[in-house]
Amino acid sequence: TGCFTYDPGFTATAACKSAVTYIDGDAGVLLYRGYPIEQLANNSSFLEVAYLLMHGELPNKTEFESFEHEVTHHTMMHEAFRTFLYGFRHDAHPMAMMVGMLGSMASFYHGSLDLEDAEQRRLAAIRLIAKVPTIAAACYRYSIGWPIRYPKNNLEYTTRFLHMMKEVPSEPLELSPTAAKALDLLFILHADHEQNASTSTVRLVGSTGANPYACVAAGVAALWGPAHGGANEAVLKMLEEIGRPEHVGAAVEKAKNKESGFRLMGFGHRVYKNFDPRAKIIREMTHKVLGELGVNDPLLDVAVKLEEAALKDDYFVQRKLYPNVDFYSGIIYKALGIPTEMFTVMFAIARTAGWVSHWLEQQTDPEAKIGRPRQIYTGYAERDYKALDKR
Ligand code: CMC
Repeated sequence: TGCFTYDPGFTATAACKSAVTYIDGDAGVLLYRGYPIEQLANNSSFLEVAYLLMHGELPNKTEFESFEHEVTHHTMMHEAFRTFLYGFRHDAHPMAMMVGMLGSMASFYHGSLDLEDAEQRRLAAIRLIAKVPTIAAACYRYSIGWPIRYPKNNLEYTTRFLHMMKEVPSEPLELSPTAAKALDLLFILHADHEQNASTSTVRLVGSTGANPYACVAAGVAALWGPAHGGANEAVLKMLEEIGRPEHVGAAVEKAKNKESGFRLMGFGHRVYKNFDPRAKIIREMTHKVLGELGVNDPLLDVAVKLEEAALKDDYFVQRKLYPNVDFYSGIIYKALGIPTEMFTVMFAIARTAGWVSHWLEQQTDPEAKIGRPRQIYTGYAERDYKALDKR
């Protein structure tokens, strides 16, 4: 053994100091740089929130225009990305492509990248926020066999992304303002969440001095799992499997039976033990957006019934399991015409703002050290090697 604190899953270990995001899990409070998530959701835009997370303050008009200009003018991918993209299997999961594509960015921006230079670090962060939607849309279009689209820089961030994803040459694309606003709001809610698994991954990789694009690619890989960002895709698949409100009771019973191996996806959170403030905002928004878009999705009834049934059940009450941010987000993505396998990619686009903000913070933290957890050794004590013919 060793004389270390055993803390699997880091439930009681602070690995860094950070001024980016504050969560009070018991009170259901989430603040980005001190601003309540509810206020940002009601009044801000994703790009403004990205600036806030990166810089620590809300921008004034000039600062915002300059930030938006920079993000807008770094949206293009190097043409060689296309060749790289076309090497993936036609049916590759878009998150698999995202990991590869972002990792490959390190090969385009490495040799001249001086991490000691604050301006170069800032530029890396801007490039990531700017190019991730372009890459995400390209992965999607490749996965359905459509030619990729260049970014239209006369459009705003979220609308530009929807345009790159959905535009077909011969048909003018009617993008509803409701759709763009809803997506922007989802991006705000997903932009950061302090030391979650993917952000901690970005920091762990960043702590070694690795290339920032490689750090973010590692973050995307961590996000993909169903216990983290992959939950939104898993929620929708679960709701589809449940299929009808009458089957909700059986699903709740199955989730309570540990042997079934089934958990209610979109339920529970490591930090929030009363409610997830993002889930409250999303629940309201789901009804509003579906109403405004004129979408009547029976899965919404299933979700509402499932939430009601679980919140009344002792198993969920005792364990303080509440709907999290991903419980309703998939229904909105679906209403926006975004295919299920792209849901976690949406999360990745938004969380890039948080990842780069944490990476930037870490790079100037005088107390930052290489991340190097210890272990409780459970293997053999020392023993002697035996030759092959003696085993
Ligand atoms: N359904 C049924 N039982 C659950 C669930 C669930 N969704 N979540 C937790 N439990 C039970 C778990 O079996 C355990 O029971 P017991 O104490 O009897 O052993 C207890 O609740 C505590 O669970 P835990 O796994 O020790 O808690 P954790 O903090 O390690 O895990 C979690 C948090 C989010 C991974 C987990 O609640 C979960 O797997 N939820 C479903 C996946 C999900 O929705 N993930 C998205 C999280 S929010 C978006 C993001 O940040 O990525």
